[in-house]
Amino acid sequence: MKRLTVPGIARAKGGTPLVMLTAYTARMAQLLDAHCDLLLVGDSLGQVIYGLDTTVRVTLDMMCAHGAAVVRGSYHSVVAVDLPFGTYEAGPAAAFASAARVLRETGCAAVKMEGGAVLADTVRFLVERGIPVMGHVGLTPQAINALGGYGARGKSDAEFAKILSDAKAIADAGAFAMVVEGVVEPLARAITEAVKCPTIGIGGSPACDGQVLVVDDMLGMFERTPRFVRRFDDLAPRIDAAAAAYAGAVRDRSFPAAAELYGVPQHPVAGG
Ligand code: KIV
Ligand code: NA
Repeated sequence: MKRLTVPGIARAKGGTPLVMLTAYTARMAQLLDAHCDLLLVGDSLGQVIYGLDTTVRVTLDMMCAHGAAVVRGSYHSVVAVDLPFGTYEAGPAAAFASAARVLRETGCAAVKMEGGAVLADTVRFLVERGIPVMGHVGLTPQAINALGGYGARGKSDAEFAKILSDAKAIADAGAFAMVVEGVVEPLARAITEAVKCPTIGIGGSPACDGQVLVVDDMLGMFERTPRFVRRFDDLAPRIDAAAAAYAGAVRDRSFPAAAELYGVPQHPVAGG
């Protein structure tokens, strides 16, 4: 299977919905890759991998390390890597330097950045210089200190109009796709109709051109998840049970058994 391309993703607007999941490690990328169109190395790794409260303290070093792992573990999906807070907002030159480092060190095809009209010049600057950019509008978790919470956006007419115009500005600046996160459903629908690039919803709308979830949420690795998460498995209790079974087998000496040892005859041994 040949790797999908950014222009191929951009052309998928209005077709079969795009499938995106986050991934942070090579092994998880291997498992998800064939099922997805895009793998996102999200700065959600701050919470998921590093135990941080928010994404604000995620660094470019973290994104580069995990981005490289996900590219090594995949051969089919387009890999996009989040630019973390503080590495692109100051302006086009800063954003270009950060994005170029991510592309160079990871081999990914695109970067994602959070924001609206204020970021349009930056998106255009990168796109014109060969760096594909995915936008991210609506609930933008890197701005949590300004937003004050993770509630759905676009409930007031003013906020609805603001986010819609932000989405248009990012699309017009050349974003090849955009995440639409945590907005009232009619807004996600309106954005999808208004912009020329595919929209990828999370807490968005089934009308979006694709969907994304944080893989650990989708697998049921977290106790508390937002309303928009569907758990396609319930892994946390299964991991707990496996750890308990391992601990019991170590403590009662049933692990390791004869077949798990080197240099022991493999025919039945006494007590084996
Ligand atoms: O960091 C992340 O996982 C994301 C997705 C939720 C879109 O940005
Ligand atoms: Na993110």
